[in-house]
Amino acid sequence: MSTVDSVVLDRLRAAAAEAARHAYAPYSKFYVGAALLFDDGEIVTGCNVENVSYGLSSCAERNALFRAISERGSGRRIRAIAVANRNHCASTPCGACRQVLAEFVTPDAVITFPGDAGPQTVPFVEIFPCAFTFRPESSQDAE
Ligand code: THU
Repeated sequence: MSTVDSVVLDRLRAAAAEAARHAYAPYSKFYVGAALLFDDGEIVTGCNVENVSYGLSSCAERNALFRAISERGSGRRIRAIAVANRNHCASTPCGACRQVLAEFVTPDAVITFPGDAGPQTVPFVEIFPCAFTFRPESSQDAE
């Protein structure tokens, strides 16, 4: 049972699919879109942007998050995430994106992505338990 209404999740998936239309992926030809639902109700989208220097390519999920923070600051939290691709195959966010998203999700955030048998929706914490955290104030200087 998701904490986000199914109609809203449908809208979020549609926004991710729309964003995937802008993906720049001439190297992998894997066209990804992501949509983030923030706690103020706004949806922010992103797509993957590749580069001929392959390692510099940037995922849809991180592009959406960085765009959101660049435009509105870092005070909001993500309640739901949708991932879509134009390749008609199952895809979940990569590990790097999970770590980056983890810093901004609510404890009950959900993620919906293309599964093997249609859209799959699970709590975010289920796909990324034990995120790395670091509290500078409680760490000690190395001598
Ligand atoms: N990609 C994403 O945009 N999101 C993911 O979660 C996984 C991978 C992109 C990166 C690259 O442009 C292409 O998909 C193939 O890895």
